[in-house]
Amino acid sequence: MASERTVSAAIDGPAGAGKSTVARACAKRLGFVYCDTGALYRAVGLYCMRHGGVESTANIAARVPEISVAIRLVDGVQRVYLNGEDVSEEIRLPEVSMAASAVSAVLEVRAALLGIQRKIAEENDVIMDGRDIGTVVLPNADVKIFLTASPEVRAKRRCDELTGKGVEARYEDVLADMQKRDYDDSHRKAAPLKMADDAVLADTSELDLEQAVELVCGIIENAVHNKLSKERG
Ligand code: DC
Repeated sequence: MASERTVSAAIDGPAGAGKSTVARACAKRLGFVYCDTGALYRAVGLYCMRHGGVESTANIAARVPEISVAIRLVDGVQRVYLNGEDVSEEIRLPEVSMAASAVSAVLEVRAALLGIQRKIAEENDVIMDGRDIGTVVLPNADVKIFLTASPEVRAKRRCDELTGKGVEARYEDVLADMQKRDYDDSHRKAAPLKMADDAVLADTSELDLEQAVELVCGIIENAVHNKLSKERG
């Protein structure tokens, strides 16, 4: 859980809102560790794709004890390990996105990943992004931000990102996948995507990356300043 000694910033929001890019840039600027929790769900999704598929909840739940996922910082960059194998690139494939969304609805998966995420926040000043960081993982985070943008803007950004990596992607397909994931992520029973009551809403539809980073860094710096002022009395 977020501790007294460290500072934690929770950034939640739908797929493609720019959470990871913005969070990574803010962490670098503010000297925080960046933790992308979606990568953990992606690693579990990849494992289940390789072992029985993600159609059956029973299969996913049965696979959980076989899975060990870890995040390590290598030269300041987050790498993701699945049972010791570096899967940092493979987990970004579109089919793994859909598998991650499927496994993330399974309670056993969420329970297994909770401890890993809390331990990172206990040990580091962290900016952690995901879907349920402010609501479930770090309910006592020093600052919570709900980062969003319109579905069309998010699909366009994700499409550009995939194309930039040489992965073929059609805008219509990316938009349809994103709308399905938005629906599934916010309607599932286990820790659905929703804004925490005490989160600050940041809509980046009209902002470029630099402006979004300025906005989010400003919100975090303000919260850190308030925490320090309170501690000093
Ligand atoms: O942020 P992302 O696209 O890498 O996330 C992949 C999937 O994992 C997404 O569909 C929802 C799920 N997820 C989650 O349920 N909780 C988190 N904290 C992070 C991601």
